[in-house]
Amino acid sequence: MTTDNLLRNLEELQAKALDDLKASSSQEAVEQWRVAYMGRRGELTQVLRGLAPLAPEERRIVGAAANKVKALLEEGLAGAEDAIKSAALQAMAEQGRIDVTLPGRPVPLGRLHPTTQILREICAAFVSMGFQVVEGPEVEWDHYNFEMLNIPKDHPARDMWDTLWVDHVDEQGERPMLLRTHTSPMQIHTMENTEPPIRVLVPGKCYRYEATDATHESQFYQVEGLAVDEGITFADLKGTLYEFARLLFGADRKVRFRVDYFPFVEPGAEMAIDCFACKGEGVGCRVCKGTGWIEIMGAGMVNPKVLEGVGYDSSKYTGFAFGMGAERIAMLKYGIEDIRLFHNNDLRFLGQF
Ligand code: DAH
Repeated sequence: MTTDNLLRNLEELQAKALDDLKASSSQEAVEQWRVAYMGRRGELTQVLRGLAPLAPEERRIVGAAANKVKALLEEGLAGAEDAIKSAALQAMAEQGRIDVTLPGRPVPLGRLHPTTQILREICAAFVSMGFQVVEGPEVEWDHYNFEMLNIPKDHPARDMWDTLWVDHVDEQGERPMLLRTHTSPMQIHTMENTEPPIRVLVPGKCYRYEATDATHESQFYQVEGLAVDEGITFADLKGTLYEFARLLFGADRKVRFRVDYFPFVEPGAEMAIDCFACKGEGVGCRVCKGTGWIEIMGAGMVNPKVLEGVGYDSSKYTGFAFGMGAERIAMLKYGIEDIRLFHNNDLRFLGQF
């Protein structure tokens, strides 16, 4: 074959290959095309192999032309592959499988449980007034949970606390251990272990034998407070708890104290704040049930019998104590209507705080 013929063949090969490539619109077709022209037995490969026996001058001319064709076909191949890839992406996007404008998936962030948050807030309020936070045992002796708090056996006041007893019987056939029904026993532990002045705050879990409903749980948190010193009066109690109410529920809160009975305080009081939802108006308010007031805790002056019980001189020392339900404070503050939500572990609830 003459050089001219060879060059013409190459030209025809190039034209045919590019035409074929244009007609190859799938990944498979393009691959077939590559094999047909540039594979080991491909048409162009054979032309290149056929250069070997040519005279050097001829080989130079035909070789250069063949290499040009090869480069052109390679370029065409790359272009066809790109076009197929972007067409596929486009199709996927149109089917909605990839929306590159969507924001990334958020990594879920943990947060503090609402009970933990309210406990910290309550503690912070009293710490700012000089109280120290202490914790105590959840399994308690009858002695501390009741006796030392002026709640003797067979006294009707015991009915105020439905108790979960620990299955342990002593020599007298009594069950002396229980899951503490309140945090008040820590008043006794604290006084037994320290001398006045005392200002402690006790957050902790309590347990009661309760039928569960929207406002009762068999497991809940209380925060207890105790201040004992020379010359402590009811005015100190009122001032301290008033400040607490304002820190937690707003600077314009009013407070109301009414007589109540708890065996370990004398006099005892129930403290209420004016309703922050209806501003004390009452009428039709769900938060205060139309009364304009919300009870938030029990309090009182430490009963002299309790002080004497731990060996304090009640003519020298006086004190006040208070106790509140932590979930109840959170329910009021955040408008939660069912105490059972605190333990349901429902992220739709927990994620709101
Ligand atoms: N321990 C009481 C209860 O569980 C609450 C309480 C009332 C605590 C009056 C006090 C107090 O310290 O002074 O119902």
